[in-house]
Amino acid sequence: MSICSFLYIPFLCLLLNGSTSQAEEPSDGKALSTVPAPNVNGDISQDDQEKSKVPKGVDVYMGRRVAQTMHYLGAEWLIRNEREREERCSLMLANLGIRKGMTICDMGCGNGFHSLAMAKMTGEKGLILGVDVQPEMLGFLRERMESQGVENVVPILGSFHNPHLPPNTADLVLMVDVYHEFSHPKEMLASIRKSLKPDGLVVLVEYREEDPKVPIKPLHKMSKKQVSKELNANGFTLVKEFDKLPWQHMMFFGKSDLPLND
Ligand SMILES: C[S@@+](CC[C@H](N)C(=O)[O-])C[C@H]1O[C@@H](n2cnc3c(N)ncnc32)[C@H](O)[C@@H]1O
Repeated sequence: MSICSFLYIPFLCLLLNGSTSQAEEPSDGKALSTVPAPNVNGDISQDDQEKSKVPKGVDVYMGRRVAQTMHYLGAEWLIRNEREREERCSLMLANLGIRKGMTICDMGCGNGFHSLAMAKMTGEKGLILGVDVQPEMLGFLRERMESQGVENVVPILGSFHNPHLPPNTADLVLMVDVYHEFSHPKEMLASIRKSLKPDGLVVLVEYREEDPKVPIKPLHKMSKKQVSKELNANGFTLVKEFDKLPWQHMMFFGKSDLPLND
């Protein structure tokens, strides 16, 4: 599939929240500054929400408090030298089941740490759709694509409730340290579900809540039980897990045929 076939994606006209002005203290002793979730302090006023029919975000979803969005000013943390040792990202990527020519969405791609690696793994016939809600993150991604000579990544500016992905396209949707930040988990999962091919998989990589030794604030961690509860309620079923990452769960979900519920 050529990159040109994605040019119809209306990703530039639907930016609903680019506000990143309220950085907080680092949350984990690392450069994790945050932006407020749009439901709390974002720049979508109630009037605008009603006009554009943007659903209201949630602070709590299925018993879990939603984390704030990581600020683009902390993006260097995503490409820190220690990341490979701490998270074994290459082991995670090697176990994703990537094949040449795949179309993969890196949802919440940030500055493209995983997008660029996957672009090389899928080869010139592969395509990576790098979605993020912060245009600054996509700016960093573009700079890094250029400096590394990578051409098969398409940056897509999503909104908090809609990633603006074409339907029935993705073989894989990867979310590394992203899902727990969704202010609109239900809407995002519904859109992601539509964007998947029938046998496509969603992969969640989340810091392990069950493990107190993982040095990340509790709000940025998730338990396997909670991940499954939320994904099951939104039309996904667990098909596989990889449990050998030092800090994170890696859970693969396919589409289920079960009726959806909250
Ligand atoms: C902690 S960073 C992780 C970045 C990247 N996945 C990585 O591992 O290097 C989370 C990213 O998710 C993005 N994000 C949060 N909510 C999002 C949404 N609804 N749609 C797309 N991206 C989102 C943030 O802007 C931020 O860049």
